[in-house]
Amino acid sequence: MTNASSPFQKLLLSSVLSPRRMSNIRRLIQDMPWIQTPIIANAPMSGVATSELAASVTRAGGLGQIGFIDDMRILDRQLERTKHLLRDIKTTPKDADLLPIGVGIIAIGGSVSSFLHLLEKHKPAVIWLSFGETTEFAHWTRNIRNVSPHTKVWIQIGSVSAALQAAQACHPDALVLQGSDAGGHGHALGSSVITLVPEVADALHDNDINEIPLIAAGGIMDGRSTAAAMMLGASGVVMGTRFLGAEEANLPSDYRQEVLLAFDGGESTVRSRVFDEMWGPNPWPEVYDGRCLRNACYEDLQKGLSGHDIRARLYLNLYKAQTEHIPFKDTSSLWAGAGVGMLKRIEKARGIVEEVRSVAKQKLEHASVYI
Ligand SMILES: Cc1cc2nc3c(=O)[nH]c(=O)nc-3n(C[C@H](O)[C@H](O)[C@H](O)COP(=O)(O)O)c2cc1C
Repeated sequence: MTNASSPFQKLLLSSVLSPRRMSNIRRLIQDMPWIQTPIIANAPMSGVATSELAASVTRAGGLGQIGFIDDMRILDRQLERTKHLLRDIKTTPKDADLLPIGVGIIAIGGSVSSFLHLLEKHKPAVIWLSFGETTEFAHWTRNIRNVSPHTKVWIQIGSVSAALQAAQACHPDALVLQGSDAGGHGHALGSSVITLVPEVADALHDNDINEIPLIAAGGIMDGRSTAAAMMLGASGVVMGTRFLGAEEANLPSDYRQEVLLAFDGGESTVRSRVFDEMWGPNPWPEVYDGRCLRNACYEDLQKGLSGHDIRARLYLNLYKAQTEHIPFKDTSSLWAGAGVGMLKRIEKARGIVEEVRSVAKQKLEHASVYI
């Protein structure tokens, strides 16, 4: 593993980024001494990002993350397994004994106390909070820092006002800015990373908040978009959809097949609340919808069918699928981002991290030469 402070990386950082951003990136490197720049994390995709993916991404010099698990026995087993896989990776400070991964927690309605015991036991380097009110994020942040003071708290939000509120109320160690191209749940009224990241950067700066690193998420599929995110003001990137193509992702083969077949992410995916409503009462607050592969339930919604009728047709299709061919995506919610059209093959997570990092470096290096 190349050291994060290699001469090339120092040159790269200093030639393209502002001193403020360099100091934020340096802080992230201090928090995660195994990390290489540009900083790349896999999204903590619930059910998809498990110990195998998290360990491979961390081992490749990224931030590997485990998705939200609300069963504490399963989470404990996942964390034990990750600890075993990463037993030789160094964290800091040495006596903190951190587990070099992030763990995703969905804050809405979650019970903080049930997680604290495991956080105290395993001390993940990062806890990633998402989907919640600012007061919930603040409550989680206080409790996490209480039981594991060296764990860093990253908060994913999807709007400028949510970013400001989270920054002021929680003082997170990083803010993850989720743009509307993102796969999975997100702010229904969100904008893309290309406007969200610079607007949040400006809004924080106007409020004298300069020391929180911004991490971009949503539509980032390769080195080109990683370099672009860095230019917009990010100190690192998160990819979800790209890692649906990782060998280590825990994904049913039919799901994988559908995302590999998808072409033109703008047409083949869409944001809607129907992907939750098709299963029954939607537990997600109105501010959130989600991006999935377009399916029959979405088409039914467009035709004006009621929630009741959409569900009735879905359950009929599920029944029919036992004996005849019904496309898998028409009987499922297949969360995927607008970048899915660029997902072309299954590969090892290490290969994804190394390729994205290397192309991003080239792009940034060239930008510093030619602009
Ligand atoms: C299959 C899938 C599952 C996801 N699950 C979660 C989750 O459990 N918690 C969360 O905070 N975000 C989740 N997300 C959203 C990601 O955190 C991230 O914002 C998104 O993947 C970034 O956009 P991209 O998919 O275009 O890379 C999920 C995304 C996908 C594609």
